[in-house]
Amino acid sequence: IQTIGVLTSGGDAPGMNAAIRAVVREAIAKGKKVKGIKRGYAGLLQEEIIDMEAKDVADIIQRGGTILQTARCQEFVTPEGQQKGAEICRKHGIDGIIVIGGDGSFKGAQKLAALGINTIGLPGTIDLDISCTDYTIGFDTAVNTAMEAIDKVRDTSTSHERCSIIEVMGRGAGYIALWCGIANGAEDILLPEKYDYDEQKLVNNIIENRKRGKQHHIIVNAEGIGHSASMAKRIEAATGVETRATILGHMQRGGSPTCKDRVYASTMGCIAVDLLCEGKSNRLVAYKNGEFVDYDIDEALAMTKSIPEYQYEICRNLSR
Ligand code: F6P
Repeated sequence: IQTIGVLTSGGDAPGMNAAIRAVVREAIAKGKKVKGIKRGYAGLLQEEIIDMEAKDVADIIQRGGTILQTARCQEFVTPEGQQKGAEICRKHGIDGIIVIGGDGSFKGAQKLAALGINTIGLPGTIDLDISCTDYTIGFDTAVNTAMEAIDKVRDTSTSHERCSIIEVMGRGAGYIALWCGIANGAEDILLPEKYDYDEQKLVNNIIENRKRGKQHHIIVNAEGIGHSASMAKRIEAATGVETRATILGHMQRGGSPTCKDRVYASTMGCIAVDLLCEGKSNRLVAYKNGEFVDYDIDEALAMTKSIPEYQYEICRNLSR
């Protein structure tokens, strides 16, 4: 490997810049050239490719977002798009590529690997919904951002003796909701993986808690369930308790990465470069059972994971 390309793809996540910085500087330390590919696979197909030096990643470790910018690219889902992407890599002398993104982005990486470009994936998403890993770049910052926001909603919810439904991101996964539910002491946590859509249980719980003197009722609702505004109206009508919905939205994707996101993203960026230098391809860097590891992308994409049962079960007891 002589020249390593790096791109960010899919939704951005805090810590992506730390990973880019690590890729650039570790590669330079190993005597390789680095090319930054802007706007994900879309930028690859448009040949938005820039040379990167150590100084180009100065002053970014603390910044949210991604300096390379990101996109979701439909053209790269097609065999023609993938073929064109591999040819552009060859034209620019890119013989190894590091893709920072989620499952969709790894499918693209898998195709590039099959077309002869050595590829390594890094898990970058706030959703934590990549099966082979216990950690994804950006999750820690996002849950901390959401947790702080929910604390604030809770203050006003208590003052007004309201029920507050707070919707957090996560696409089809409930990890952000579960973590915030525990960290914020939510009375109810609604996860797409678990929710039975029985609103009567929520109504009963709110009424029961009121009888026991609780001044607020926090419901953390996952985006995968959604419909927080209409849910709030129905709950208010059924309980007589004033209810408000707050959708936290894209604020969860921004902000300066936490220490954990900076350190883990930096480590993963270096591992990705080291794997390419060892001649590896079609690998995904992960964090599993307390260790940094790497998996074959095909195997990683076939894995499944579920919400930790025990943590979900203890939620109700902890919010009494
Ligand atoms: O995957 C990250 C994520 O923020 C999800 O939680 C959410 O469903 C989605 O991206 C939102 O995407 P967009 O920024 O395109 O609205």
